[in-house]
Amino acid sequence: MDLCNKVAIVTGAASGLGAATCRLLAEAGAKVVGVDIDVTKLKCLEQEVGKAAITRVANVADEDAVRAVIEAAVDTFGALHIAVNCAGVVDAAKTVSKGQPFPRATWDKVIGINLTGTFNVIRLAALAMMKNAPEGESGERGVIINTASGAAWQGQVGQAAYSASKAGVMGLTLPVARDLAEHGIRVVSIAPGMFDTAMAAALPEKVLGSIVERMILYPNRMGRPAEFAGLVRHIVENSYMNATTISLDGGARISTR
Ligand SMILES: NC(=O)c1ccc[n+]([C@@H]2O[C@H](COP(=O)([O-])OP(=O)(O)OC[C@H]3O[C@@H](n4cnc5c(N)ncnc54)[C@H](O)[C@@H]3O)[C@@H](O)[C@H]2O)c1
Repeated sequence: MDLCNKVAIVTGAASGLGAATCRLLAEAGAKVVGVDIDVTKLKCLEQEVGKAAITRVANVADEDAVRAVIEAAVDTFGALHIAVNCAGVVDAAKTVSKGQPFPRATWDKVIGINLTGTFNVIRLAALAMMKNAPEGESGERGVIINTASGAAWQGQVGQAAYSASKAGVMGLTLPVARDLAEHGIRVVSIAPGMFDTAMAAALPEKVLGSIVERMILYPNRMGRPAEFAGLVRHIVENSYMNATTISLDGGARISTR
């Protein structure tokens, strides 16, 4: 799909991978609707990107709020062609710690945002994309890109909820792509390794240093948000990419501890 004058919603737009994606899609000629719960950072993004972007404060897990975002995209820019799910949280706890079981509220929050929130956006965005006229040789109407994680299959201590949520994102990729193929909508997920964002910065410096030093194969550094955004752009533009999860991780393999 050619990005020029296409309309994209990007969740988690206020920070890290989502913000880099908004910048690159706008640079490539798309109109962008940035969605997040962080009002202040969203305002900065809107100022930076200018007329090519609007932003909306919405929780991705909230049905009415996401419907309103999609309506705003269509009202402002005329259609919706691309949805990029980057909103996510990484709250961690051990299954049992100091005599206490994993807090149910933490489980519900992580699954609610990372998995249910992703699917909430997918289903409502797909409904809007189906209204587009088919484009090009393959009659494309839309592209949906989700963010999984290497933790989907290599979760660390404390990551039961996070890993389950990201394995869920990977798991839904194929069936949703199968559901939407007849409508000309592709679905691809990206599984990032360790990227240099606020989420990674929340880790203790020692832990971060040890991950980069011992677990990332080559190049021996964290991923850059612009590299994630570059893959999003490629997925949109490459019409033969569908129904798969792509690792973007410098060959990282997470060790047991
Ligand atoms: N940074 C990494 O190393 C890494 C690795 C693998 C996967 N990921 C995934 O990439 C995605 C982006 O992460 P990031 O590193 O840019 O993190 P980040 O913390 O910089 O950005 C995440 C954004 O999501 C927003 N958000 C959180 N809950 C939300 C909700 N309910 N509704 C709307 N927005 C919400 C936050 O406000 C924040 O702006 C996440 O899904 C994360 O799990 C990140």
